[in-house]
Amino acid sequence: MQSPWSDGDLSMSDQPTNQTWGGRFTESTDAFVAAFTASVDFDRRMYRQDIQGSIAHARMLTRIGVLSEVDCAAIVEGLEAIRGEIERGEFAWSIALEDVHMNIEARLTARIGDAGKRLHTGRSRNDQVATDIRLYLRDAIDAILAEMKRFLGGLAELALREADTIMPGFTHLQVAQPVTFGHHLLAWFEMVKRDHERLVDCRKRVNIMPLGAAALAGTSYPLDREYTAQLLGFDAPCANSLDAVSDRDFAIEFTAVAAILLTHLSRMAEELVLWSSAQFDFVELPDRFCTGSSIMPQKKNPDVPELVRGKVGRVNGHLMALLTLMKSQPLAYNKDNQEDKEPLFDTVDTVLGCLRAFADLIPAVRPKHEKMLQSARRGFATATDLADYLVRKGLPFRDAHEVVGQAVRLGVETERDLAEMTLAELQRFSPLIEEDVFAVLTLEGSVAARNVLGGTAPNRVREAVAAALVWVAQG
Ligand code: ARG
Repeated sequence: MQSPWSDGDLSMSDQPTNQTWGGRFTESTDAFVAAFTASVDFDRRMYRQDIQGSIAHARMLTRIGVLSEVDCAAIVEGLEAIRGEIERGEFAWSIALEDVHMNIEARLTARIGDAGKRLHTGRSRNDQVATDIRLYLRDAIDAILAEMKRFLGGLAELALREADTIMPGFTHLQVAQPVTFGHHLLAWFEMVKRDHERLVDCRKRVNIMPLGAAALAGTSYPLDREYTAQLLGFDAPCANSLDAVSDRDFAIEFTAVAAILLTHLSRMAEELVLWSSAQFDFVELPDRFCTGSSIMPQKKNPDVPELVRGKVGRVNGHLMALLTLMKSQPLAYNKDNQEDKEPLFDTVDTVLGCLRAFADLIPAVRPKHEKMLQSARRGFATATDLADYLVRKGLPFRDAHEVVGQAVRLGVETERDLAEMTLAELQRFSPLIEEDVFAVLTLEGSVAARNVLGGTAPNRVREAVAAALVWVAQG
């Protein structure tokens, strides 16, 4: 696609470049400046919200007697027809008309005449755009929340199927203690559940209506802002007109929530990449989510998790862009704010794409139970269990730690797990060790013993899955 300020694109501008506000100007806008300041290339994605906001504004103006019923009907009908034109790809967007708002308004006037010119009574593009973004973001948040639930539902069901599967748990990426795979998946669940809660909370601050703030100070028309808010499904009108048109903190907050979510998804992605490598070999990713190499015939690359892992970078960048955009802006509206849209839209697209990829991928991951089990065995994962056993027999924990350390050293030297040693061998390290030690040295015994709230024991995992599924099903 051509750069929006290339000559090629400018030639598409078929109208004088400042017709909407040109009354006080003595020359028309420089063609480059028109293209440089235009936002229609990206803000036209808010056309539905712009039309929705305009219809509500017209209805409210009619209710307070500022607009006639006849004009209102023409406006509503005209805007709905324009929505149809846009959706059928018949609408001629013009850079000369700067943004989505003026493109639609100009088309409305072209269709219905003077009534179209009355729509902007008691309104400014400043409160209009702030309203459109909030409506757009609210819709996006609802779509993201639904996709999060889809992902979490699939995750919880996989956790249930894997409640008894034993794998090594890691700290420092070194085998630490055995855990169940279901428990590991539920850790992922908790992360994204918190992201969901953060987003629900963020939505409350998004869903407040700027309309009625007009350019910055409010308007002299007796607008019924409560009514417009109600028509648009906002929880309330913004309380201060200057704040309403100027702050984009709701977009920053959304992007911050998105950055945390993507951070979580990148951690899962990293584990999937590691686990699907020949070195770990814990899971098989479905072929349809992977790609091959053009030179190495043996390769099956985990592209989807890798991309999700990489996409956190762009969202972090967008967050930084929005924070920097807002920093030090004096009240009230400044054109700087036009720069809020691209980072915001790309964040929405990125989040929806990553969630969709994972919601589809995760339930299709095939765990390799035997490989996970072997790996847990190889890493002396039950060393802590042996120490705890000695503590139960009366040895202070620090001494038990030392005893088990010596046993592990023998294991390293002879390439055997603790469970593979004879009782006589183990008794060399402590006379407290008896035949019953082998019950605690098994991986199954180890995970079953962690039967504490929030622990890895299979029955605790099943309990946690039940609670997770109840939460997912809640509206
Ligand atoms: N396209 C503008 C934006 O995105 C709309 C508001 C323009 N307001 C103005 N006073 N120039 O912020």
